[in-house]
Amino acid sequence: MSAHLSLENLSVSYGKQRVIDKLSVPSLAAGEVTALLGPNGSGKSTLLRALAGLQACDGAVRLGDRPLNRRHGEAAYLPQTLPPCVHLTVFESLMVAGQATAAGLFRRHGDDEVVALLESLGIAHLARHYLDQLSGGQRQLVGIAQALIREPAVLLLDEPLSALDLNYQFHVMDLLRRETRRRGMVTVIVLHDLNAALRHTDRALMLKGGQLLANGRPEQVIDAATLRAVYGVHGRVERCPQGVPHILVDGLSHHAG
Ligand SMILES: Nc1ncnc2c1ncn2[C@@H]1O[C@H](COP(=O)(O)OP(=O)(O)O)[C@@H](O)[C@H]1O
Ligand SMILES: [Mg+2]
Repeated sequence: MSAHLSLENLSVSYGKQRVIDKLSVPSLAAGEVTALLGPNGSGKSTLLRALAGLQACDGAVRLGDRPLNRRHGEAAYLPQTLPPCVHLTVFESLMVAGQATAAGLFRRHGDDEVVALLESLGIAHLARHYLDQLSGGQRQLVGIAQALIREPAVLLLDEPLSALDLNYQFHVMDLLRRETRRRGMVTVIVLHDLNAALRHTDRALMLKGGQLLANGRPEQVIDAATLRAVYGVHGRVERCPQGVPHILVDGLSHHAG
């Protein structure tokens, strides 16, 4: 089952403050990683929580031609701030997380599957460690494993790289792209690192003030004009010798905010 995700006239308010304003995205394709970009306070986390069904919203979120069914675990969500740990081992926590799958069935994952997933993330050596004894980066990796083992159709990750070192940042983005293609997932990742978005994602959405300013391939969305308009910086996009675009910031054009 691979279907595209679409958002139609999505609005979210906190009390009287409207934070996401009638946002529409016609199609996020299965098998593609989308970067959700924008300055601090632009509504990225709010939008992700609305997609995950954790935030009341107006408008429609559809997978293919029907509403996304969050209650049956079609979407897996990793928050920006990880919840407090329970006293379980990494392995036990994955067995629990894997009970509810996208099919809505209660499936017991074999030990081998859990170990294989931990190995693919490079954290098999942590299987017997307790969650509350891990470093921030290790917990982030386990959080990603817990989301993946649910086999969601839609994977929603809020700043999953923030606690990771350079090596794991690259490794995780690479793995997410491969798994997204292999499983035909729709993956949406909030990223601050525009260079990671340029290198590792298929599409970018640029938010500012709760509105969608751009939607397209990352190198279309991230350019000098956007850097100035959205982030208030003078910047350039250059291609490295391998042909990968990356941005350089030369100075501030005005105070963003
Ligand atoms: N629970 C909340 N209650 C009230 N206002 C909130 C809440 N969460 C976020 N906001 C406000 O909504 C706006 C968008 O926040 P958020 O979605 O966290 O932005 P981002 O993730 O892009 O930094 C901000 O102005 C923020 O202060
Ligand atoms: Mg946020």
